[in-house]
Amino acid sequence: MPNQLIQGDAFTELSKLPDATAQAIIADPPYFNVLEDEAWDTQWKTASDYLAWCEGWVGQSMRILRDDGLCFIFGQLGKREHTFLHLMSRLTRKHQFHDLIIWDRAVGYNERRDSFTPQYEMILVLRKGEETKFNKDAVRVPYDAATIEAYMRDKRYKNKAARRAHLEKGKYATNILRVTSLKGISKEKCGHPSQKPLALIDKLILCSTDEGDLVLDPFLGSGTTAVAAQKLNRQWIGIERDKGYVKIARKRLSDLDASLN
Ligand SMILES: C[S@@+](CC[C@H](N)C(=O)[O-])C[C@H]1O[C@@H](n2cnc3c(N)ncnc32)[C@H](O)[C@@H]1O
Repeated sequence: MPNQLIQGDAFTELSKLPDATAQAIIADPPYFNVLEDEAWDTQWKTASDYLAWCEGWVGQSMRILRDDGLCFIFGQLGKREHTFLHLMSRLTRKHQFHDLIIWDRAVGYNERRDSFTPQYEMILVLRKGEETKFNKDAVRVPYDAATIEAYMRDKRYKNKAARRAHLEKGKYATNILRVTSLKGISKEKCGHPSQKPLALIDKLILCSTDEGDLVLDPFLGSGTTAVAAQKLNRQWIGIERDKGYVKIARKRLSDLDASLN
């Protein structure tokens, strides 16, 4: 069945997928009235319609998730939107909360005169069962050379070779993931207004799956999750309703194939 790029509505297409098959779900849904010029972000009359819609596709996603899998759901606060807070509250009453990751975008993303400039997005993580697959070592953060040398001067560690090997593995990542957001001039940018950086999606895939596992993205957009999964030897299924974005995703995947051959 995988790898599949499906053009269609997320809820309808998710309903056709079998139970307990995806190891990780990476969902970057419409935010609800944040990107006011995008019809896909303003398609609900009220926040309550949006929340009911989200409960529907999240319910389907959790059915498709494996018992030890993780479901990552992006959400944004920003100007004065707070719908994602309501969404997190609704979803965590029905599904098991696992973590709340902060994606630190490194630069602010809109000008607020009446508060600090927003710089992060949240990623709600839901789990299905008590035991989850999580590869902490796969997403370690390297120390820079100066820090390694400073730590090597710590006299408590007698076995210098073991100490160096330990430090060279890097440190465990925190749940604040700092990955610079894509700017208009980024080489990676390909024409989607909320395209996520590959470096961020790589981390989510690496921590939650092994090679060969299935990654599902119900809102594939420009194809970031599919490209990351393919590059990391995971299987993937991506759903996207917009024809134009499907075309962009196909092009990114064929460029990746060409670069690997
Ligand atoms: C926030 S964007 C995803 C961006 C993506 N993560 C990327 O890196 O390019 C949300 C996407 O959901 C799509 N979308 C909106 N409603 C949908 C629906 N009912 N079913 C499937 N896709 C939908 C939009 O066309 C948009 O591309």
